[in-house]
Amino acid sequence: MNRICFYDTKPYDKKYFEANKDKYGFEIDYFEEKLNSKTAIMAKGYEAVVAFVNDTIDKKTVDILYENGVRLIAMRCAGYNNIDFKAAYGKIHVVRVPAYSPYAVAEHAMALLLTLNRKIHKSYNRTREFNFSLNGLTGFDLHGKTVGVIGTGKIGRIFIDICKGFGMNVIAYDLFPIKDSDIHYVPFDELCKQSDIISLHCPLTKETFHLINEDSIGKMKKGVIILNTSRGALINSEDLLSGLKDSIIGGAGLDVYEEETDLFYEDMSYTIIQDDILSRMISMPNVIVTSHQAFLTEEALSNIADTTFANLQEFFLGSSLSNEICYQCGKGEACNKKQNGKCF
Ligand code: NAI
Repeated sequence: MNRICFYDTKPYDKKYFEANKDKYGFEIDYFEEKLNSKTAIMAKGYEAVVAFVNDTIDKKTVDILYENGVRLIAMRCAGYNNIDFKAAYGKIHVVRVPAYSPYAVAEHAMALLLTLNRKIHKSYNRTREFNFSLNGLTGFDLHGKTVGVIGTGKIGRIFIDICKGFGMNVIAYDLFPIKDSDIHYVPFDELCKQSDIISLHCPLTKETFHLINEDSIGKMKKGVIILNTSRGALINSEDLLSGLKDSIIGGAGLDVYEEETDLFYEDMSYTIIQDDILSRMISMPNVIVTSHQAFLTEEALSNIADTTFANLQEFFLGSSLSNEICYQCGKGEACNKKQNGKCF
């Protein structure tokens, strides 16, 4: 029987994978530990591991997995910035779930915006104590405001449609704008200057690392709201904190944080958090932090389980790997996927 182990398993992952596994006949073991160079040895005896966004799949981890017989890393997520692809190439195939519910993430971005703007987090707490005062709860109409969307892929486009439904004026920036679309693209600096709200929907790459920094914040409108449901390191958190303290930034809705790996998905309520930037931001009335939960809908979890199992089955049958990715993908002839159905 094909043996698979899961890292960083939570009860909600297990529920959806267990519900779908019977038709595949895999033998699955679920580990709660995150995958990193210390825990990679646990994969001895498994040909495939299933990993997630906050696992550290660096060269050391890849080498240990390979030495212990692992030949497939199946990411149960879309993003893959936590993998050393060069280290994996030629040794371990990497597959992912390119799309499971872009609606889940786009809707969460809008939930953050509505909560921040209308101060629902404040009123929820107030009315629980029978404090029915409205002081300090004033928001603004989203209708007619300009939202700048960075990254017009699957999630960004749905977020644009949601914003249009609110009567907002949408502008966008993308390194690869969609041709012949009705999206109003502007250069990055222009988007910073014009937007009342900026929402990040691009991947974390060398080019997008700390895209939101002191320099770009300096170009933004006073009071801008920044939403990040993509990857934490798109924002230089120290610069974001300064912008919030100086009231240049009027609010931040963050589902991701650049130093989230050891914090998010865990109950840290009895721990003294050592990250002063995150603690300070969480203490601010105009910052909402959610714990990388934008994907967390029933539909998304079910689709993640389906696609991950399909990816694993392709691997065990020796077929083409539809959702494989490597560091050479998209760079002309360098990757073998077009010819052989696999990157190597
Ligand atoms: P996608 O691949 O469909 O779209 C990404 C877009 O970003 C593309 O249009 C691409 O051209 C653009 N882009 C690439 N480099 C850029 C650059 N340097 N500047 C501006 N635009 C650039 O990806 P999708 O599915 O829309 O996901 C977007 C991101 O959302 C993912 O990379 C992932 O990091 C994040 N995500 C977060 C989740 C959460 O639970 N918070 C769940 C799923 C995805």
